[in-house]
Amino acid sequence: MDMTRRPRRLRRDGIRELVSETSLDSSDLVVPIFVDATTDERVPIESMPGHERVPVEDAVARVEEALDAGVEAVMVFGIPESKDERGTRAWAENGVVQRAVRDITAETDAYVITDVCLCEYTEHGHCGVLASEARESWEERRSDDVLEADAEADGRLTVQNDETLDLLAKTAVSHAEAGADMVAPSSMTDGMIRAIRAGLDDAGFENLPVMSYAVKYESAFYGPFRDAADGAPAFGDRRHYQMDPANRREAMREARLDVEEGADALLVKPALPYLDIVSDVRREFDHPVAAYNVSGEYAMLHAAAEKGWLDVEETALESLLSVKRAGADLIVTYFAEDVAPLLD
Ligand code: PBG
Repeated sequence: MDMTRRPRRLRRDGIRELVSETSLDSSDLVVPIFVDATTDERVPIESMPGHERVPVEDAVARVEEALDAGVEAVMVFGIPESKDERGTRAWAENGVVQRAVRDITAETDAYVITDVCLCEYTEHGHCGVLASEARESWEERRSDDVLEADAEADGRLTVQNDETLDLLAKTAVSHAEAGADMVAPSSMTDGMIRAIRAGLDDAGFENLPVMSYAVKYESAFYGPFRDAADGAPAFGDRRHYQMDPANRREAMREARLDVEEGADALLVKPALPYLDIVSDVRREFDHPVAAYNVSGEYAMLHAAAEKGWLDVEETALESLLSVKRAGADLIVTYFAEDVAPLLD
């Protein structure tokens, strides 16, 4: 047999590592944490084994666990003590995220990113404010205790884009005032990056970076998160503001707008089912690209591992390496603390 080309030559131990094209480091990872103002003890999140909602008093301890595991960046989500129609606790000076971030930045060296959205703070669970007729219909339904989807009414229950912008900017500024190192708006409100950038600059935070969830799909993989953060919409869905999973070119338009509006980094979400998008964004822009390996991606590996069908550490490492190979510079992932000790 005349065979001069043998790719296997480079696969042996020793050379295999030397020719490896992609690496995963603990410095690529960001772990989401959930701080809950409604509890004074830690509450395990059932669909996300290993993760908990922690009271504000435990926020520092929670971040120290991440640091001990070798994860130096956290993304903070809050569950407020109360919700209302406009989500006012999202920008309260003594809000759950603001209090937690103040403690974390005072007592640790972690890099603190905050999620900027209203869905955990509005009583209807949408990522912005509703139109007035929608509010009435929501009130009616609430008093009737009929929260099930009503297709006819749902058509009117839309989030008001422009009215929401100012609230997002206020929220971002309040996170910056509490000491956040970076804000990450996730509400898919058109114009949110411009509004937040302007708000931060006016408040003197011109050096604070904004990582846009530029390309966020309307995904069933967010299911466990919505339990974790108590942010499921009380009616309807997020199809009128989050992206259609069928669309690839639209992702470039979304990302381009956010770049024009001043985003410093672009995030794609979810990660694994959308690696084509991560790769496109990588190729099209020179900004740092982040991918969010979401709650459903975490839950499905754990569920299979619980059955003994696969090894969670190995599949997590392979998944995260694949997200890097597709072009991500950093990954927001619930696996961060599981894999960081295995890296470097
Ligand atoms: C808030 C937000 C969501 C996630 C991150 N920020 C939920 C949603 O849009 O429904 C999902 C994260 C995950 O599933 O891990 N808008």
